[in-house]
Amino acid sequence: MSKGAIGIVRTVAALREAVARWRAAGETVGLVPTMGALHRGHLALVGTSTAQCGRTVASIFVNPTQFGPNEDLARYPRREAEDVALLGDNGCDLVFAPTVDEMYPEGFVTTVRVAGVTEPMEGAHRPGHFDGVSTVVSKLLLQCLPDRAYFGEKDYQQLVTIKRMVRDLDIPVTIEGVPIVREADGLALSSRNEYLSAEQRAIAPVLNRTLLTVGEAVKAGRPIAEATAEAEAALRAAGFDPVAYVEVRAADDLSPLTVLDRPARVLAAATLGKTRLIDNVPVG
Ligand code: PAF
Repeated sequence: MSKGAIGIVRTVAALREAVARWRAAGETVGLVPTMGALHRGHLALVGTSTAQCGRTVASIFVNPTQFGPNEDLARYPRREAEDVALLGDNGCDLVFAPTVDEMYPEGFVTTVRVAGVTEPMEGAHRPGHFDGVSTVVSKLLLQCLPDRAYFGEKDYQQLVTIKRMVRDLDIPVTIEGVPIVREADGLALSSRNEYLSAEQRAIAPVLNRTLLTVGEAVKAGRPIAEATAEAEAALRAAGFDPVAYVEVRAADDLSPLTVLDRPARVLAAATLGKTRLIDNVPVG
C-alpha cells in the first residue's frame, strides 16, 4: 500500500478500520502512545517504530486519570496541530487523538492495577498515577492491537509496569523501550522542561550528573545507601526542593538493591520551583 499524507482519527472505530486495512495488506503496525507536546524524545520512539514496522500510529491523549488532584493536568502543554505536522514529517502514518468521552464514556468503571513494581518511587509519591497509566495504555493497546508499542526509558518505572501488565494480561504486543534523548548538557527531554525558568533550566542538568555520580560510586563499591543519601543532599544543595527519592534498583523488576549484584538503574525525582523532574541512568 502506498503511503499518503498523515491521517487523524478520533474514534476507536476509525482507528480499527485503518489498522484492519493495513493488516489485510500484510503490514506490521507500531503504536507510539503520547500525551502530545512532542519533542525529540517522542520522535525517537516514532523513528524506532518506522524502522521496525510498516505502519506507525501515534496516539495523542492527555490522560486525565494519571494526574493527581494537585498536578498539572490543566496547564499540561497542548498543541495538536504542531504535533500532527511533526509526526507527518517523521514518517508516522496515522494520529489517534480521541476525546476524553471517547476514552472514558459515561459509566466507565474499570481500572487496571499492576501491583508490586508500581508501589515504590513514582507510585509512592503519585497515588493513583500508575492505575491511570495502566488503564489508558491497556485501552490503547486493545484499541489499536499493534505488533509493537514504543515507550521511552525516561519513564522507566512506567516501562517496567507496562511490560509486566502486557505479560500478565497476555496482551499480544511486544513492548519496546527506547533510550532517553538528552540535551547536550545531559537534561533528559521532557514536555515539562518548558515550565522551567532560565535559572531553573541552568540547574536542571545537575539531576543527570548526580545520577551518573551515584552509578559510578556504586560500581566502584560504595554502599548504595551512602551514595543515594549523598546524592539527595547534593540535589538539595543545588536547589531541588523537595527531592522525592534517589534510588538504585534492579533494572528488570525494580526490586530494591543493597549490593550491586545485577544490572541496575539509578532513578530519581526532584522538584525545581513547581516543576517535578524525573531521570534515570543504567548501572553495570
Ligand atoms: O508516557 C506518557 O506520555 C504517558 O504516560 C502515556 C504512556 C502516553 C499514557 O498516557
